Amino acid sequence: MLRYLTAGESHGKGLVAILEGVPAGLKLSSEDIDRELRRRQAGYGRGKRMKIEKDKVEIISGVRMGRTLGSPIALLIKNLDWENWRQVMMVEDRKVISQNIPPLTHPRPGHADLAGAIKYNFDDLRNVLERASARETAVRVAIGAICRRFLSEFEIRIYSRVIQIGRIKDVNQWQPIKASYQIIEDSPLRCLNKRAEAKMIALIDSAKEKGDTLGGVFEVVILNLPVGLGSYVQWDLKLDARLAYALMSIQAIIGVEVGSGFMAAEKFGSQVQDEIFYEKSEHRFFRRSNNAGGIEGGMSNGEPIILRAAMKPISTLAQPLSSIDIVSKKPVKAMKERADVCALPAASVIGEAVAAFEIARAMREKFGGDSLTETKRNYSGYLDYLRKR
Ligand SMILES: Cc1cc2nc3c(=O)[nH]c(=O)nc-3n(C[C@H](O)[C@H](O)[C@H](O)COP(=O)(O)O)c2cc1C
Repeated sequence: MLRYLTAGESHGKGLVAILEGVPAGLKLSSEDIDRELRRRQAGYGRGKRMKIEKDKVEIISGVRMGRTLGSPIALLIKNLDWENWRQVMMVEDRKVISQNIPPLTHPRPGHADLAGAIKYNFDDLRNVLERASARETAVRVAIGAICRRFLSEFEIRIYSRVIQIGRIKDVNQWQPIKASYQIIEDSPLRCLNKRAEAKMIALIDSAKEKGDTLGGVFEVVILNLPVGLGSYVQWDLKLDARLAYALMSIQAIIGVEVGSGFMAAEKFGSQVQDEIFYEKSEHRFFRRSNNAGGIEGGMSNGEPIILRAAMKPISTLAQPLSSIDIVSKKPVKAMKERADVCALPAASVIGEAVAAFEIARAMREKFGGDSLTETKRNYSGYLDYLRKR
């Protein structure tokens, strides 16, 4: 029901996306999207590219007079850097010019370069890296911003923060996230703990000095969800699986945890399962712990959803690793592109966006509706049912 496609190369004219399945009547402005694009571009450890790009969305279709029409929403984000890459990225076949642009032939370990060139039969790695690049995530954040706008109509809120860079960890629990969110938003690393943040900044500086890069872990917390999004009846309907897929689809994400995640594997069942209680006055079931991370049997259980994603260190190194020239097959050093040293704060905002899409998709599946009014009517009928249980 809710689906999207993206297109665009990192240094091409721009990024585009089509989002289909948003109900009619949702208030939406470019600023709702631009706000999220600015959040993605911030963060300590980014490379020079983010100083060139000042991302702004153009809504091409699907919105009129500030409200969605129920038709596909098409988005465009122009790449300002394209002006500097017109020749390298030109669409037309102008052999004279292209002969003066040397192909890239030194694949970076950890990037899509080598496997992509073999798979698509390219002798120029630029043909791979332009699309594999995480520049694509700008338009995914734009899609997520529309989904977030939709979710806010149901008071569903999505937060994120960075909890680890390299071996430096912020051991604070997620609970204060709502109350202390301004601290996270103002932090150059989206880190709640100031002491951990200072150590992370020092670590990024030292990695940069050595020509090296860093990864880490971010956490996404989703609040105010109804019980019953997703389903246990079929493998591809399970909400935990869908959220994990969405997070794993972000460039450089190598692992996902739900709730207490890998830690739960070390414990006894009695320490991990969240016991069930009932609050008579509010007519609701509740838990005193949330090791499940808000999902049981592939469905939201009404508790906050807690997700964590691990990001590997950036693959483009200023001090490059050994590689092989794909044409001559001789040993070389991997190529250098302009690159981030650490992109955890951006990844954390992208994590919110892809989670927003999956939750919005699950909401659309459960509550349907061609107009927002109809969706809200269906939702409030469900809440009435929950109160009567
Ligand atoms: C926000 C963000 C920024 C990134 N910046 C860079 C970068 O500057 N240089 C780089 O080599 N990889 C960067 N990456 C990671 C690559 O895009 C990614 O490693 C590559 O596309 C290969 O995909 P894979 O790591 O998922 O296998 C970034 C990833 C994210 C999420």
